[in-house]
Amino acid sequence: MSISRVGEITKDIIDAIDKICKKHQVTHGEYRKAIDFIGEAIDKGERSLLFDAFLEANVVASDPSKSSGTSPQVLGPFYLPDMPWVENNSLAKNNEPGERITLNGRVLNRNKETLGNAELDFWQADAKGRYSNFDPGVADGNLRGKTKADADGAFLLHTVRPAQYTIPDQGPTGLLLSEIGRHSWRPAHFHVIVRHPGYKMLTTQIYFEGDEYLSSDAVRAASSDLAFPIVSKEEGASLNFDLVLESR
Ligand code: DHB
Ligand code: FE
Repeated sequence: MSISRVGEITKDIIDAIDKICKKHQVTHGEYRKAIDFIGEAIDKGERSLLFDAFLEANVVASDPSKSSGTSPQVLGPFYLPDMPWVENNSLAKNNEPGERITLNGRVLNRNKETLGNAELDFWQADAKGRYSNFDPGVADGNLRGKTKADADGAFLLHTVRPAQYTIPDQGPTGLLLSEIGRHSWRPAHFHVIVRHPGYKMLTTQIYFEGDEYLSSDAVRAASSDLAFPIVSKEEGASLNFDLVLESR
């Protein structure tokens, strides 16, 4: 009988864990504790965070089906689907605290042809590093929304600058991070998913050039090719970048 893909991968996971147990002479008590630890993280709402923080960047990097335009990035635990379309090209409400910044650029394919009407699904932390629907004190849906590129593939989005931010570090995931000698800071970032018919969906993040945590991201995702300088002009600060999709 042939085994499934899940079966093949499971066999390798078991082999890898077997090697680790032998190497570290793992005791039965430690084994039970590890299971309880994963259960506790899930009970405390860290199901996605625990796995995303330690494993998602590796999976994104090794996925052979990943988009080969703009580098893909982790989705992370704070994405919510089906957010509304933004109004007036504005992700931030008028009274949203923080430094104003405009994101603009074009959605292109790898031949540098513009992809009109591409859909961009943005979410970000606020100026205090809080994500709506996950952190208390923030209105549901805040700084989340979709916008469309125009017929020439150009997008424009007014928002506020997100803060550098620590992933939730008071629970099991934070404990494990510090056990392996990693801090819990992520560089400031915008998340975006880009969709256009006939092209691979792109999940990525946009960073700020010079951010001190680009090279020591807690979730080891950030990449300097996705870090852009703030351009300051009379009409305000902007971050200018193109997003490149690969055809399916
Ligand atoms: C993770 C990713 C994020 O973008 C974030 O804001 C928090 C956590 C993660 O991969 O765990
Ligand atoms: Fe994030």
